Formats: sequence, structure tokens, C-alpha cells
Amino acid sequence: MITLPKVETLKPKNQPHNFFIWGETMSGKSYFAGYFPNPLVLNTDGNSEQGQAPSIQIRNLRDANGNLKQSAIKQLDDIIIALQNQSGPQKFQTLVIDVVDDICVMIEQAICLENGVQSLGDMGYGRGYAMFNSTLQQFVMDLKALPMNVIYISREISITDEETGKTERKQSLKDKYYNVINGNCDLVIRTSKVGQGQNITYYREVKAVRTKYEPENITDKRVLHLLKSCHGMFSKEQLERIKKEEVKK
Ligand SMILES: Nc1ncnc2c1ncn2[C@@H]1O[C@H](COP(=O)(O)OP(=O)(O)O)[C@@H](O)[C@H]1O
Ligand SMILES: [Mg+2]
Repeated sequence: MITLPKVETLKPKNQPHNFFIWGETMSGKSYFAGYFPNPLVLNTDGNSEQGQAPSIQIRNLRDANGNLKQSAIKQLDDIIIALQNQSGPQKFQTLVIDVVDDICVMIEQAICLENGVQSLGDMGYGRGYAMFNSTLQQFVMDLKALPMNVIYISREISITDEETGKTERKQSLKDKYYNVINGNCDLVIRTSKVGQGQNITYYREVKAVRTKYEPENITDKRVLHLLKSCHGMFSKEQLERIKKEEVKK
């Protein structure tokens, strides 16, 4: 018979492991993600040689007849299995999905190619969309179960309300996909930059947070340092407290 846990009040030491970062092009998304501990980048835009982190290019490959030779879905599956079975002294500790918008498009493409249709809608009775959603859900859940940090990167779009003239900036990933991923993220960070040329300043601000995190609970000093650089992550009191602690040591 199953043994149920004891009735008690737990005091979890929460730390964030799943991140969603969005921001305009060249605002420092990849740069920031690349500073996390031992990163592996799943790259989609083909400019991976610019980064310092090891990377894997994700894509659907087709043969001369246009049939799917290598599916991005299979490729992602294989990577997840390899990460589940990492051994040796040096392990990847962070997985960066750069950019998740493209991964979603590739999953969609792979499903279409495998089923010989032009678009998900062509599969009839909502089957295509259902298949897409379950594939994305599974991917995100598999990543969440990995014992590592996961960073999803998305670009930025701005939408101007024609009546009020107000501009809203948001992640470029479609809302319904964002909701699937965001439901599994602990922290949403927006990157931005101000100025030009030699006078650029890079900013990071926390847009959403699952729970209040205490800096003392963040075990990886590198991650703590990175999070300290994000506006709104910690309160002034929290920052002063850990500063005092550091001075003591
Ligand atoms: N915090 C930072 N400090 C110094 N340089 C930065 C910083 N963030 C980004 N950069 C530089 O800005 C450029 C664009 O950053 P990148 O991370 O590639 O942008 P994105 O991924 O958002 O398109 C890179 O050359 C990078 O070195
Ligand atoms: Mg980038």
C-alpha cells in the first residue's frame, strides 16, 4: 500500500529553475542566459557561433522529395533523453531554448509534414491543434522534470491600441503557447536596452514571479548574482541583508 506523507506544515526553500525571458532583438536575452551555470543552447536562428555556450541547432530536415528526414520533435526528444542520462564530472546545468517561438513553429511544421498537410487546420476535427498542444505540453513538462535550469527565450512585439494610442509591449510568442509555457515557469524577465553605440545600458526587469524568493535560499551563487541584476527580483531590505552577510564573511 502507498505510504502517505505525514501531516505537517513544510517550509520549502524555494528557488526559481524555469525562466521565461523576452525582449527586443539585441537587448541581451542570449547574453544573460549564457551566464547561467554550464549552459547548453538549443538554437533556432543559426547564429549560434556568436555565443560562447555549446549549442545544438534545432531544425526539420527534408530529403530531396520534400519528406521529413529529421523531425525537430524527434531531435528534441533525443536531447531530453540524453540530458536525463547525463553522467561524468561535467554536466550541463542550464538548458536555453533560443528562441521558443521558432521551436513552436518547427513542432507545427513537423506535425504537418508527418501528416502530409499544409497546416494544422487541414487535419480536420481539431486533430492538428490537439496534437500540437499535447506535443508542446509534453516538451515543457519533460524539460521541467530535468534537474537543471530551463530558460525559454522569446522576442518582443509592440501592439498599439488605435483608439488610445497606447503601445503595449509583450512577448512575441502567441498567448496560447505562452500560457502553456508560463504555467511552468517561475520567473518572467524582460530585457531592454537604452542608448546607442558606446553608451548602451542593458536592463532586466522581473515581469512575473511565482512566489517571493529569498536570496539566502538560492544555492547557486552564480544564479543569485544574475538574479540580483534583475530589477524587482529582490527588495531593498533583502539586498541589504545579503550585503551585510557578505561583509561578515
Ligand atoms: N549586460 C550586457 N553587458 C554588455 N554587453 C551586453 C549585455 N547584454 C548584451 N550585450 C551585448 O549586446 C549584444 C546583443 O546581445 P544578445 O544577447 O545577443 O541580444 P538578444 O539575444 O536579445 O538579441 C551582444 O553583442 C552582447 O554582447
Ligand atoms: Mg539572441
